[in-house]
Amino acid sequence: MTTEAMDDDLHDTLPDDNVKLSLIVAMASNRCIGINNMLPWRLPADLQYFKRVTSGKAIVMGRTTFDSLKRPLPNRTNIVMTRDPNWEGPIGTRVVHSLEAALALAESVAVCNYQDEVLIIGGAEIYAQTLSQVSRMYITEVDTVVNGDAFFPEWDANEWGKTSVETHFDEATGLNYRFVVYDRKL
Ligand SMILES: NC(=O)c1ccc[n+]([C@@H]2O[C@H](COP(=O)([O-])OP(=O)(O)OC[C@H]3O[C@@H](n4cnc5c(N)ncnc54)[C@H](OP(=O)(O)O)[C@@H]3O)[C@@H](O)[C@H]2O)c1
Repeated sequence: MTTEAMDDDLHDTLPDDNVKLSLIVAMASNRCIGINNMLPWRLPADLQYFKRVTSGKAIVMGRTTFDSLKRPLPNRTNIVMTRDPNWEGPIGTRVVHSLEAALALAESVAVCNYQDEVLIIGGAEIYAQTLSQVSRMYITEVDTVVNGDAFFPEWDANEWGKTSVETHFDEATGLNYRFVVYDRKL
């Protein structure tokens, strides 16, 4: 293959615009997302959805959320934010000490892997710091109110358009929930 042809290949495969910054979260009607550093519910189809959306991509999380996962998630670049310079993640994690470092690393990983999206996966502190910067939100809206201790920040629905909605019912818990994709209005 000539160098020219290789260049053509690159033009076909590289993302042509900036890497999209998105977040993914499952929240109750009162915006509760966690209790005692755990999810407030067990919804297997939501975990499958999370896996589908995030697989192959760079995911950015706070150290507390990483503690709740206990291990890096396979087939994803796990970027963990901590202010503790001595904190060491297990093999399979990339540790960063600021939001700027997390986003720069996530973007460069995405470009190297020909991915056009990176995902913020929580928790509450990290959502609060990134909400103003994301252009897409994958929200699982769970029809329940939970008296938990971690909450998604308040957000203005007028700034977002619903791109897709998929409704679900979990027989084991009796919970209704929806996978909703929101894109920021221009
Ligand atoms: N429902 C969902 O979709 C969902 C998703 C994810 C998490 N959760 C829930 O959310 C809860 C955890 O949320 P959380 O707010 O307590 O913790 P978190 O956001 O996961 O992590 C907070 C930690 O991240 C680090 N950090 C935050 N900002 C930083 C910055 N600018 N630079 C460097 N490091 C920074 C600090 O770690 P150090 O203390 O080490 O410095 C901080 O203590 C849990 O209940 C979890 O189950 C729910």
